[in-house]
Amino acid sequence: MSTARATPNLALIKYWGKKDETLILPVAGSLSLTLDQYPTTTTVTLNDATTDAFTLNGAPAAAGAADRVTLFLDHVRELAGSSRHAHVVSTNEAPTAAGLASSASGFAALAVAAAAAYELDLDPRDLSRLARRGSGSACRSICPGVAIWHAGNDDQSSFAEPISAPDLSMVIVTIDASEKSVSSRVAMRETAKTSPYYSSWASSTENSLAEMVRACSAGDVERIGELTEVNALRMHAAILACDPPIRFLKPRSFAVFDAVTQLRSQGFTAWATADAGPNVAVLTVPHEAARLAQELSEFGPTRVAHAGRGAELVNEAP
Ligand code: PMV
Repeated sequence: MSTARATPNLALIKYWGKKDETLILPVAGSLSLTLDQYPTTTTVTLNDATTDAFTLNGAPAAAGAADRVTLFLDHVRELAGSSRHAHVVSTNEAPTAAGLASSASGFAALAVAAAAAYELDLDPRDLSRLARRGSGSACRSICPGVAIWHAGNDDQSSFAEPISAPDLSMVIVTIDASEKSVSSRVAMRETAKTSPYYSSWASSTENSLAEMVRACSAGDVERIGELTEVNALRMHAAILACDPPIRFLKPRSFAVFDAVTQLRSQGFTAWATADAGPNVAVLTVPHEAARLAQELSEFGPTRVAHAGRGAELVNEAP
């Protein structure tokens, strides 16, 4: 039995689109901050059952989620040369599938726990590659703090690793915690298929990523923030241009973007971003986060997150 804990990450430069759906190779690289909030804790126990079982937040998981876990474990079994099945028990503190990256913390925790349970000896890079097979963004949740996911060309070269960056924090404003109507998997596919802006999204993201890496190593928080907000809006613009359209942001999400612009003009260090859902994350520096959360609380429940430690094994029974 092996238990691991991982937290979500929020992308400052987003991953949106795959060039290989099986290996989960992204169309462009991305960069994120692993958070210290909303952990997923996952225990993997090998057994002699004839199928895998997946318990999520105290109840048997829906068929789709269980199938994804089995597909992932099939890959782990192949790496380990094992045919044993497993019971996976996972608990998320964040609302599942509400655009708060529970798939990232989920597959990062599962990768670490499953690797230990099946006795695979993997270094952080290999764990990142393994987590990627479950959910692309999960490869970044293996890493502490700010991580870059190198797009790569094959299974070997597509992984995330930590990079040096100034201390950053996020204020998450929950606009709506219910399950989103379109999964990021489906929405990515539709964007690639029907959005006329998809190819420019991919090329502009590579340019923004290179600039972001420079801004991180220079400790230029201002530029990091500007690039973050622009990249998020470009992703949502590409998604909005799908046929039929897909829209994740709600009027209240935009109201938070407006409030952040206003707060910036008052001297706050703040830039807004949003993943595939209506909730908004506001990038800031640690000492301003609590005050910013207070300012934004009229839009919904807020949660302050600082840099997290990355995925780790928390307990291994004999
Ligand atoms: O890893 P997935 O399939 O849940 O996709 C995540 C996509 C975004 O969260 C919208 C962007 C990102 O880089 O995390």
